[in-house]
Amino acid sequence: MSNKAIVEYDGKKLELDAIIGTENEVGLDITQLRAKTGMITLDPGYGNTGSCTSDITFIDGEKGILRYRGYAIEELAEKSTFLETAFLVLYGHLPSQKELNTFSAGISAEAGLHYAMKSHFDGFPANAPPMAILSAMLNTLACYNTELLTTATDGPKFEVPALKIMSKVRTIAAWAYRTSKGRPYMPPSPRLSYCGNFLHMMFSQPFDLYEVIPEVEKALDLFLILHADHEQNCSTSTVRMVGSARANLFSSVAAGVGALWGPLHGGANAEVIAMLNNIHDNGIKLSDYVEAAKDKNSDTKLMGFGHRVYKSFDPRAKILKLHVDRVLDKLHIDDPLLDIAKQLEDVALHDEYFIERNLYPNVDFYSGILLRAIGIPVNMFTVMFAIGRMPGWIANWREMLCQEQRISRPRQIYTGETLRSYVQIGSR
Ligand code: ACO
Repeated sequence: MSNKAIVEYDGKKLELDAIIGTENEVGLDITQLRAKTGMITLDPGYGNTGSCTSDITFIDGEKGILRYRGYAIEELAEKSTFLETAFLVLYGHLPSQKELNTFSAGISAEAGLHYAMKSHFDGFPANAPPMAILSAMLNTLACYNTELLTTATDGPKFEVPALKIMSKVRTIAAWAYRTSKGRPYMPPSPRLSYCGNFLHMMFSQPFDLYEVIPEVEKALDLFLILHADHEQNCSTSTVRMVGSARANLFSSVAAGVGALWGPLHGGANAEVIAMLNNIHDNGIKLSDYVEAAKDKNSDTKLMGFGHRVYKSFDPRAKILKLHVDRVLDKLHIDDPLLDIAKQLEDVALHDEYFIERNLYPNVDFYSGILLRAIGIPVNMFTVMFAIGRMPGWIANWREMLCQEQRISRPRQIYTGETLRSYVQIGSR
């Protein structure tokens, strides 16, 4: 097999190297294209553009495969924990017991927030969107840790900010929620697990501590495992791009939060619940809803369906669908939205429009129902996604720096006016 491709345009020819990944993915190396031919490639939305090579996550969208560092998501979901998976995503190997203990202890030790940060939370209005608070407070953390504003990829200058961010993201999220409810800050409890501690900081009252239910804790842990990384999606590419300017880790992940907030990305989990509630509360016929989602003149979309990369089932959606049933059973919850979701999925999967376009449920289709069942309010759904995605963002930021990547700076094809003369205001 040849490892070369030839681009020919207007009499100019260039031989391109094919870069072949470990799973036989092929990318044509165009890094010399402009220098040698004056041309660039055009790919709005980057659907056909590899922005980097990466050892972290492998996705085969046609076959519905997702692996972190070579381990199948199905196996990690069944056998691992979020902290173990986070270590794997960050460092590339499953930790030994000693490594895991040190990592977990480091996370626990970093759970608290500087008390001066209270004044920042107090400054937000009660209805401030938690994603705005999260992004702002991640940058605020930088202000309290100026000695850590580096681009170190090893040693304490990398590990300490990474642990701080992974740990404090829970505390910030819980405090943001409590601010919106007018409740006082609940300090972390070091004896609780990563998820148990988060639930405690969210829901405990001063004289009425939240009782962590093992099934709820496990379901949340699973949710976080499923969100730990997803290669070059919108928010991760944002983190890499911001980091490529040698921005520190705090500001790079804060930018990732902004990208994730969008309803076409992480914000879709809340939109799914809004859609299911709308169908439920207004008694909308599912076939009518699906018809509206197909109509290009309507704003309706089947939220939680479709994916840029998966052209068959999103494997995370399959795992979640199974667990949603189990968790609801264990907690004796009968959620009418789950029935609607299952029926809606069935209608869409048998509809020509969705079949032709390979539109299947994505991770967000069932994740909202799981989060609802474990008591997370809808306006916190995307924040939960951000907590889960933190190891992936940090690992990608680090990998990009280790690769000594140049600053990200795409080009464009200019389609505006050509040179024209300035006209004074009275003569226009
Ligand atoms: N409902 C109805 N039609 C859809 C949907 C949907 N959810 N998704 C895609 N389509 C249609 C498009 O209109 C387009 O139709 P056309 O070919 O007739 O023009 C076709 O399917 C292809 O879709 P694109 O928009 O080209 O797909 P793209 O890769 O750009 O977008 C996206 C992917 C943003 C996820 C899209 O499917 C979508 O908006 N889904 C709903 C929002 C959602 O669930 N987002 C979460 C994604 S997962 C995540 O970020 C964690």
